[in-house]
Amino acid sequence: MNAQSILILAIESSCDDTSIAILRNGKILANIVATQQIHVKYGGVVPELASRAHQQNIVPVMQEALNLAKVSLNEIDAIAYTQGPGLLGSLLVGASFAKGLALAINKPLINVHHMQGHILSHFIDLVNPPTFPFLCLTVSGGHTQIVLLKDYFEMTIIGETLDDAAGEAFDKSAKIIGLPYPGGPLIDKYAAIGNPLKYNFPTPKMEGYNFSFSGLKTNFLNFINNEQQKDSAFITNNLADICASIQFRIVKILIDKFEKAAQEHQVKHIGLAGGVAANSALRKAFETLAQKNNIQAHIPPFEYCTDNAAMIAMVGYLKFKMNKFGNQTQVANARMEFDVYQ
Ligand code: KG4
Ligand code: ZN
Repeated sequence: MNAQSILILAIESSCDDTSIAILRNGKILANIVATQQIHVKYGGVVPELASRAHQQNIVPVMQEALNLAKVSLNEIDAIAYTQGPGLLGSLLVGASFAKGLALAINKPLINVHHMQGHILSHFIDLVNPPTFPFLCLTVSGGHTQIVLLKDYFEMTIIGETLDDAAGEAFDKSAKIIGLPYPGGPLIDKYAAIGNPLKYNFPTPKMEGYNFSFSGLKTNFLNFINNEQQKDSAFITNNLADICASIQFRIVKILIDKFEKAAQEHQVKHIGLAGGVAANSALRKAFETLAQKNNIQAHIPPFEYCTDNAAMIAMVGYLKFKMNKFGNQTQVANARMEFDVYQ
């Protein structure tokens, strides 16, 4: 290894995206993502099919990443991989591949927590990175968390969902009104011309900074069923208003709690991560919150918000510099906890 140059190959396979990235000194050279289409016809991710697709994708995705980055395997300094949390079968494919590769090229392994990847995606490419203390709202199909960082790995979850994630709230609402999976982006699209105040959905009463979305989903289901009994064309005739109203409520639930947390912890930098960060209403509300409180908002480029290996490579790079390496005895961990260093 050249002391000036650290080259990381990273593997992400925690859910339904097979991704491999190459990063040199904090800058991305390649970030290839193969999104599995097979799940669309089932209306959600089918774990067994996801594992099989990872096995098929992983070698071609790595070849593409190496070609794009114009590097060869023998130049790589370490292999970072998502150890967890996620779907066990999916994680196993990435973890086993990472271990085999590390043995083959005789380079160290770095095990990475998927959610820490989402959070630290804010530091990729080191363009205008946040400073600490930093408060991050991570919203994806599997997670909804408010995390306070005093340093890269000094992070504390101060609030999280006790049931559905924000992405699930979008996807399940979309399913109720007959939109295909994943319905979040479609709700966003139809909401653009709808009235967000047309239908009023409830805000769950939750202590502290935790969230709950399952009651909202039930309320939405009952509302749609009732309206459809009165008018069988209710969804078609009011699609934009329905989407705008449910989106408004999900976003308000997230933003109101996050704003309180930002004020209580007196942070000057806030971040938004995970696939739901693509939502236009959420992005707008996030920017407005920052302006109102005179703090700086950070939202990574979209390709680093949805599941990707670039964020895993970034965590790998930070851990490499701190000499925090993994080993061959570590196994994929569907319920992994944060790696925290003071
Ligand atoms: O982070 P991600 O790619 O995968 C997980 O780790 O879950 O997030 C995917 C989630 C899905 O629930 C999807 O519907 C949601 O992000 N999503 C959106 C939008 N784009 C993606 N939700 C609302 N509006 C969007 N524009
Ligand atoms: Zn994710």
